[in-house]
Amino acid sequence: MIYDLEKLDATNIYHMMAQTVIPRPIAWIVTQDEKEIVNIAPFSFFTPLSSSPATVIVSIGSKSTGEKKDTLTNILNTKKCIICMVDEHNLEKMHFSSKELSSSISEAKEFNIKTTVKFDGFPPIIENTSVAYCCTFNQIVNLGESPRTLPVVLNVEQIYINDEVLSTPAKPKINFNPVARVAREYAFLGENISAPKIP
Ligand SMILES: Cc1cc2nc3c(=O)[nH]c(=O)nc-3n(C[C@H](O)[C@H](O)[C@H](O)COP(=O)(O)O)c2cc1C
Repeated sequence: MIYDLEKLDATNIYHMMAQTVIPRPIAWIVTQDEKEIVNIAPFSFFTPLSSSPATVIVSIGSKSTGEKKDTLTNILNTKKCIICMVDEHNLEKMHFSSKELSSSISEAKEFNIKTTVKFDGFPPIIENTSVAYCCTFNQIVNLGESPRTLPVVLNVEQIYINDEVLSTPAKPKINFNPVARVAREYAFLGENISAPKIP
């Protein structure tokens, strides 16, 4: 069976891609508005783009009202965000934080998600996070006429690694167990497989 995407609606295309590009990492993004209300939301259309310059890309859609999601509004206004990687212990809070709330309500308060400042002049990171990226806005990629989501390129300025998951700081070896998105559910990475030697 070959599906011609021109004949499928956007929701079906989303479901097809979400079940086949797996697992997807989750960017748990913390931003602040001009009143410093802390906004938190997860995004799984997210991937590294380049390590030099260090950049990632995350695709952000619209609210059910058609307005921009708060994360995008805040990134465009402040040019700053924090991306927290999600471990098992904060899976539930990450999932709850995807609830569509008014921009005046902080997910941090609504779901009792504790945060702490690690990067001066940037939004806080989520407490107990193993790895967090401190990012600035780079650009929105133009995907043509009326795209449903806007791909946002972010520069990674600094990376926080909790000492508990870090060994050999000079050549960092990081041991943490991130949660990935698989279709509409979640998974941990399974058994590691050594890379075969290329003859
Ligand atoms: C695991 C997970 C991944 C998600 N990935 C995306 C995504 O890649 N793009 C997107 O627009 N929404 C995604 N969402 C939905 C947003 O988290 C949700 O719309 C949220 O309310 C946005 O909040 P905001 O308005 O505070 O930015 C995802 C939700 C979950 C639970």
